[in-house]
Amino acid sequence: MAIKKVGVLGCGLMGSGIAQVSATAGYEVVVLEQEQKFLDKGFAGIDKSLAKFAEKGNLKEPAETVRARLKGATDRAALADCDIIIEAIIENVEEKKKMFSALDGIVKKDAIFSSNTSSISITEVAAATKRPDKFVGLHFFNPVPLMKLVEVVRTIATGDAAFEATFEFGKSLGKVPVRTSDKTGFIVNRLLVPYLLDAIRAYEEGVGSIPDIDNSMKLGCGYPMGPFTLLDFVGLDTTYYISQVMFEEFKERRFASPALLKRMVMAGWFGRKSGKGFYDYADASNPVPTKF
Ligand code: 3HC
Repeated sequence: MAIKKVGVLGCGLMGSGIAQVSATAGYEVVVLEQEQKFLDKGFAGIDKSLAKFAEKGNLKEPAETVRARLKGATDRAALADCDIIIEAIIENVEEKKKMFSALDGIVKKDAIFSSNTSSISITEVAAATKRPDKFVGLHFFNPVPLMKLVEVVRTIATGDAAFEATFEFGKSLGKVPVRTSDKTGFIVNRLLVPYLLDAIRAYEEGVGSIPDIDNSMKLGCGYPMGPFTLLDFVGLDTTYYISQVMFEEFKERRFASPALLKRMVMAGWFGRKSGKGFYDYADASNPVPTKF
């Protein structure tokens, strides 16, 4: 299966990052969005990121050459001749099923379908298509242009050819692919989510302040970000959603959302993207811990 043309569904934070790394690796890329304004926003982020890489001499080609490989589309027909589709739309299983079921009749029959979901069952989404043997999970990490890992997820129905082609595709993007199976959370979130939730529980129990817990993990364990900085970075709404899906699957306390996380999401405190989470980003260059 030779992959030349990549279709990306969604031009949000993850979709735009996936489109950027695909174009940087030399693939023709079509990004599908519902409206042009979402494409404009995503492509503006790509331009900024490519400029940073170019500035540091970390691009093999001029940014404009990479950018010329990226096309936006609001019509699904533009994806018809893609060799792989990578979905990064809203984390809602029904929306994903609807999208893939529609694309099944549009995109060429031997194309691979993949999803960047962090917690939704790949098997369930794949079953909405007539090509579950060509359906793979492809889970990237934020910020996609910088994080080296990609989880390649196999379901019980995934065929060897599609899995290996996707694994090689991950490598060709300059990422380190790891093989995992369709168990909710895969490898990273299986370990990361309970850690993040435990940090909140430790704070609720008075073990330490937000900056002290953050500094402990940064300086004591060499993590690039402490748990609260990372929670705000990933998004509290996203973490809350993942924890609910994982709790539903495993029924274990370690995946259960602490009360404070739920309250913050109800209050609209989603972290960096909403300007407030465990830190207040009113002055983005100097976030201050939120007082509870
Ligand atoms: N494109 C290009 N360059 C970028 C960039 C981007 N999108 N984002 C940041 N950079 C550059 C910055 O400009 C900066 O350049 P400089 O050194 O010339 O100033 C450099 O990268 C480093 O960035 P910062 O100085 O802002 O901060 P850090 O040194 O802390 O690095 C980080 C940023 C790489 C994000 C690092 O903090 C990190 O690795 N954090 C952890 C991230 C993480 O764990 N991600 C996974 C989240 S979980 C997930 O995604 C899964 C999901 O399912 C929940």
